[in-house]
Amino acid sequence: MNILLIGSGGREHALAWKLAASPRIGTLFAAPGNAGICEEAECVSLNADDFAAVADFCKRNAVSLVVVGPEAPLVAGIADALAEEGIAVFGPKKQAAMLEGSKSFTKEICRTYGIPTADYAVFDSAEAALEHLQRTGAPIVVKADGLAAGKGVVVADDMETAERAIRDAFSGAFGAAGARVVLEEKLVGEEASFFALCDGTTALPLATAQDHKRAYDGDTGPNTGGMGAYSPAPVMTEAMCARTMDEIVLPALKAMQDAKTPYVGVLYAGLMITEDGPKLIEFNVRFGDPECQPLMMRLNDDLVDLIEASVNHDLAGGTVRWLPDAALTVVMATRGYPGAYEKGSVIEGVEEADAMEGVKVFHAGTQRDADGNLIAVGGRVLNVTALGATIAEAQKKAYAAVEKIRWPEGFYRRDIGWRAIKRGL
Ligand code: AMP
Ligand code: GLY
Repeated sequence: MNILLIGSGGREHALAWKLAASPRIGTLFAAPGNAGICEEAECVSLNADDFAAVADFCKRNAVSLVVVGPEAPLVAGIADALAEEGIAVFGPKKQAAMLEGSKSFTKEICRTYGIPTADYAVFDSAEAALEHLQRTGAPIVVKADGLAAGKGVVVADDMETAERAIRDAFSGAFGAAGARVVLEEKLVGEEASFFALCDGTTALPLATAQDHKRAYDGDTGPNTGGMGAYSPAPVMTEAMCARTMDEIVLPALKAMQDAKTPYVGVLYAGLMITEDGPKLIEFNVRFGDPECQPLMMRLNDDLVDLIEASVNHDLAGGTVRWLPDAALTVVMATRGYPGAYEKGSVIEGVEEADAMEGVKVFHAGTQRDADGNLIAVGGRVLNVTALGATIAEAQKKAYAAVEKIRWPEGFYRRDIGWRAIKRGL
């Protein structure tokens, strides 16, 4: 089977690596890919927003399945457009992708289906939002309603920060995404990411992970796309996973079914594990990045089989096998990220790191120059991932691999995994 993978990040390199390992793959294409993905797949330059061009490419290259890494093409309707051309897409159609595309849409579903989440209110004007703030006070969380590339959320611990965030959103700081604002209760607890594979009616739990969103050690500094992750997340005990399926994932799947917009693809529940149990912070309609990297490292099944069962509505009775090991990913980013940074620095030593047993270096923002040098061309650049019997062992090995990489213009956190290791795992 020929497959086209859409995306260019570390998440997509991990997916490409697992897809390419399947004996069922004919040709794996990737658009646009990166230097790492191009070692696993045939990279092509295709604009994922141009659905007609994607469909045309698929027909010319006998591609019957498109795997979409990031959320933007899904929210824009790539699955709907390709379905009309008879091409299967791993990922939800536009209406179901609203679970990530609109926070107020998801909140409404939570209310109707009793999914535990933070109390909230939705506002279309700054005046009304500020008035609500006067009544509730801080702490409070201010969110732009639409997609804002992870930058539309401010956890405000005082009134001044909350007021500024509301005014910023309504004055266009997040573009159209901020024309509507959700104000919600601040949840207290430990965050975890839970992934389920869905075929419209059945959901299979995949695995759990924990991300590290802040740029610097000790969870300090600005928010990023994620500076590291590990799987499994110890806070997600068997009981907590069962509750998450029953109280959050299955009701959402039912909601999408009731609305005649069945959900197909990976459903990622961003959770706060509170004293009362799991509460939904947000849904995403794709794998997490970097959470996908440790997940793929641990997956002990054929990814093509799993994806095919999902798009063919054939997950009932299925299981997913995992290595018993833990996996941990350290993100290496260009100095300056998540703010301004320079592109074009040369990275050495990746092959040596990659050659270590139980280590895989996934690429994010990388390219090869004309001389074959590996060049950093993004904020997040490498995802050094290792397996270990425990999270502590995976951490030790991942950092030993990081040590082999020579890249003065890069930086990374030195404490990925600290929560799990503090628990003695
Ligand atoms: P989101 O884009 O909704 O995932 O929010 C980004 C981050 O903001 C989350 O990962 C949390 O760390 C934090 N956050 C969002 N909503 C809440 C909330 N209701 N309570 C506490 N923290 C939150
Ligand atoms: N790592 C967080 C996300 O992918 O949204």
